[in-house]
Parts: sequence; C-alpha cells; structure tokens
Amino acid sequence: MNDNSLGSGPSNDTAAEENGQTVEGGVKYYTLEEIRLHNTSNDTWLIIHDKVYDITSFLEEHPGGEEVLIEQAGADATESFEDVGHSTDAREMLEQYFLGELHMDDRLKQKPKDEKFNESGESSSWTTWLIPAIVATVVGVVYRFYVVEHKSS
Ligand code: HEM
Repeated sequence: MNDNSLGSGPSNDTAAEENGQTVEGGVKYYTLEEIRLHNTSNDTWLIIHDKVYDITSFLEEHPGGEEVLIEQAGADATESFEDVGHSTDAREMLEQYFLGELHMDDRLKQKPKDEKFNESGESSSWTTWLIPAIVATVVGVVYRFYVVEHKSS
C-alpha cells in the first residue's frame, strides 16, 4: 500500500479519505474543519465526548431550547453538555443523532496540554512546593528571632 504516512489516527491503508471524512471499520471520522461547516439552524452538528452528532432535527425538541444548541453548532459542546448535568435519558437520546467520531488528529489538537503545564506553557509544579517552602522559612526565621529576643531580654 502506498499510504504509509502518519502513524496516528485512522489514516492507515484500510481507510478511505474524502471531504474531510475517513471511514474505518464502519465508523466515520470527521475533521474539525468539516464539522465547523455545519453550524446553522438548518444544519447543526455537535461534538460531545469526541463523537459527532447531527442534531438538526432535535433542535425544536430540546427541553433546554434550541438557542443553546445553535450557539454550539459546529463545535465541541462537551463542557456545556456536562455542565447542565444531563440525565441518562438525555445521554441515550444522543445515540439516534450519532454520525461518527472526531478525527484522531483533531482530538489531540483540542485537548488541553499536559496538566503540569499552565497556560503560558511553563511547568507550574515547582511553584506548588516553592511558595509553601518560602513561607515556612520566613515563619521559622521570624520565630527564631522572637525566641532569641525573648531569651536575651
Ligand atoms: C444533542 C445533545 C443534547 C441532548 C440530547 C439534550 C437533551 C436534553 C434533555 C433530554 C433535557 C431534559 C433534562 C434531562 O433529561 O437532562 C435537556 C435539558 C437541558 N439541556 Fe440539553 N441536550 C443536549 C445538548 C445540550 C447542550 C449542548 C446544552 C448547553 C449548551 C444543553 C442545555 C440544556 C439545558 C439548559 C437544559 C434545561 C435544564 C433544565 O431546565 O433543568 N443541552 N437536554
């Protein structure tokens, strides 16, 4: 096979790729680029937990209103979906709108960086122990002075 490119994701030689979607083992993988195009009230796709849903026909039925869904159209709604604390029924309803999965390459792009690193990209783990260490040293020094002063007076 001639497709010997990227090792990650579903792009291997059993997959056929066209229009930003890849089919492998019966599951379709959609790229973010493709998903973003479905961002209107007549054509609404959402990503929830790396799965892609076409919820166009569900907009009017949504107990939480269609507005909130349209706001997230073409994007990842996992956080807002979880914030609401949807019931098991709501989770089961999702299945009927299932289209496919988010492409592996786009999952990596979406995920926050390593938790040890903060937004500026620096490792923040050393600050978690350095600050208490400094505070402890200062308290120790002040205490020593206090004791010594009391003893000498
Ligand atoms: C396609 C995915 C979704 C499905 C199938 C769905 C389904 C439901 C269902 C069945 C309810 C009734 C309460 C329950 O059973 O939990 C509900 C309520 C609600 N949903 Fe969704 N929902 C979806 C996505 C979202 C998203 C992305 C948001 C937020 C942006 C959202 C916001 C809400 C709100 C605010 C309520 C009302 C809660 C209340 O009044 O108590 N939903 N949804």
